[in-house]
Amino acid sequence: TLVRISDDALARAGGADRLADAFAKKGCEVHRTSSWGMHWLEPMVEIDGKGFGPATLDDVDAILDGTSDKSIGVIEDHPFIATQTRITFKRAGKTRPLSLEDYEATGGWAGLKRARQIGPEKIVEEVKHSGLRGRGGAGFPTGIKWDTVMKAEGPQKYIVCNADEGDSGTFADRMAMEGDPFALIEGMAIAGEAVGATQGYIYLRSEYPDAIRKLNAALELCTDIIAPFKCEVRVGAGAYVCGEETSLLNSLEGKRGEVRAKPPLPALEGFLGKPTVVNNVLSLQAVPHILNEGGADEYKDAGFGRSRGTMPIQLAGNIKHGGLYEVGFGVTLDDLVNQIGGGTASGRPVKAVQVGGPLGAYIHPDQFDIQFDYEEFTASEALIGHGGITVFDDTADMLEMARFAMEFCSVESCGKCTPCRIGAVRGVEILDRIREGGRKRDRIELAPQMHNAPKDKGRDAGDEIGLLTDLCETMKFGSLCALGGFTPYPVMSALRQWPEDFTRNPELVE
Ligand code: NAI
Ligand code: SF4
Repeated sequence: TLVRISDDALARAGGADRLADAFAKKGCEVHRTSSWGMHWLEPMVEIDGKGFGPATLDDVDAILDGTSDKSIGVIEDHPFIATQTRITFKRAGKTRPLSLEDYEATGGWAGLKRARQIGPEKIVEEVKHSGLRGRGGAGFPTGIKWDTVMKAEGPQKYIVCNADEGDSGTFADRMAMEGDPFALIEGMAIAGEAVGATQGYIYLRSEYPDAIRKLNAALELCTDIIAPFKCEVRVGAGAYVCGEETSLLNSLEGKRGEVRAKPPLPALEGFLGKPTVVNNVLSLQAVPHILNEGGADEYKDAGFGRSRGTMPIQLAGNIKHGGLYEVGFGVTLDDLVNQIGGGTASGRPVKAVQVGGPLGAYIHPDQFDIQFDYEEFTASEALIGHGGITVFDDTADMLEMARFAMEFCSVESCGKCTPCRIGAVRGVEILDRIREGGRKRDRIELAPQMHNAPKDKGRDAGDEIGLLTDLCETMKFGSLCALGGFTPYPVMSALRQWPEDFTRNPELVE
C-alpha cells in the first residue's frame, strides 16, 4: 500500500515521523509529501486520495483495514480544499518537496525555460500584466519593482528573498519553502533573468530549521538547472524588524539590523549598495506559474478590483478549521472565519479577528462583510499584511491585546527613531494606568513628573485615553518604518470598537 504523510514541520510536531515509521513497519511504501494545509487534521494519512486525520499510532491498523473512524473521504473533494483556487500552493499535499522528478512532472522549470526564451523586457511585461503585488504586506506591484531594477545601471545586481516571516499567526512562507522549495528557487532565477542578477539570497529566520534544511538541500539538487544564477540561504537571528527590507539588507551585510531611511530605494541601492529586488517568498513563488504560457492571464483573472490573483490566507488562533486557504481576492471575512474556518475552536462567539499580524487592526464581527482586498482594507483602517487571520473568542480582553501591541513594539523596535523607541514604552505605561484607574478606580493618581496637570488633580481614564490617542497619531505619522507606524492600528481599533474593555465607563471614550 502506498501511504502519503506530510513532512511539514506542523505535521512532524504532531507525530508524523512516528506515524510514517509505523506504516513502514507494516510493509507500506511511505511517501513524505508537502502538507495539504488542513492543519486541524494533521498528521493526516493519505491512501488512494482519501484522508484520515488527525491520526495517531493507535489508528494505524484501523486505517489499513478500512475501519477507521478518522476518514474525511476524498481529500480533493473536502470543502476546505474544493473551494480554493490554488496557484501558489498548487503542489501542496501532492508532491515530495525534494523530488526533482515530482517537480518536473508537475510543470516545474517550464516558467524559467520560457523566461529564458522571451528575455528581460517581456518577463517584466508578463509580471506587470498578471497584476501581482508584493505579498509581504505592502502590495507594491512586483512588475514595477522589477522594471526599476532592470533599468538600473550596474553590472552587479541582486535578488533577495524576504523569508523572515515574523507575523504572529502566519505560516504561508514556511509552508511554501518546506513544501515546494524548487518553486521559490525557480521564481528567484526568473527574477534574476528579468533584471540581470546572477546572485540571490534567501534571508530565512532561524526559527524555521526545517525550511533552512530543505532549501539548502533543494539548492544543491538544482544548481545546474538554475546556473548561471546562484543562490544561498542566510539565516536571521530572531529580530522581527529584520523582516523590514532595509533592516534585512543591513543584517545580510553583517551589520546591525537597523532600518535605513528610504530613499534610496533598495531597487536602486540595495544589498551592498547595488540594485536589488527584495521580494517576499509568496511573491516569488507565484512567478513560475505566471511565466507559463497563459499563466499571467490566468493569474490576473482571479481576484477583485486592483487586487489581482490569489492570496494564501492563513487561518489561525481560536479557530476550528485552521490552516492554509488560497483563494482569489474578494472573499469576505465572514466566509473565511465562520464558513471555511467553522468559527471558534472553543465554540464560543467570535469577538474579534486580527488580520495582518501583530501590527494589524482588530476587526469586529459587525464588519465581517469586508472583502479581502488591499484598497478595501485600507479604507477601513485595516491591513491585509501577509494574509494572517488570528481569531479571538469573547473571553479576549482587548485592553490586554492593545497593551500587547505596544509591548511587542517596545521589545522589537530597532531604536532608530523616537516615536517608536520611546513611544511604545510610554504606550505600555498609559495602558497600565488605564487598566488600573479605568477599571478599579474612577481617578488615577499621577506620578508628579508624568504630566503637566496640576499636582493636586488626578487624571481620569478619559484623559489617559486622549493621551493614548495622541501618542498613536505621533507613532503613526512620525515613525520611520511600519513597525512603529502600524502599532497604532491594533491599539486604536481595539479602543474604538471595544471601549468597554478600556474603562468601566464607556462614555469616557470619545
Ligand atoms: P513600502 O510601501 O515602503 O514598500 C513596498 C515595497 O515597494 C518595498 O519593497 C519598496 O522598496 C518598494 N517600492 C516602493 N516604491 C517603489 C518604486 N517607485 N520603485 C520600486 N520599488 C518601490 O512598504 P514596506 O515598509 O516595505 O512594508 C510594509 C508592509 O510590510 C506593511 O504593509 C506590513 O503589512 C508588512 N509587514 C509584513 C510582515 C511579514 O512578516 N511579512 C511583518 C511586518 C510588516
Ligand atoms: Fe526602528 Fe521603530 Fe523607527 Fe522602524 S519605527 S525605524 S523599528 S525605531
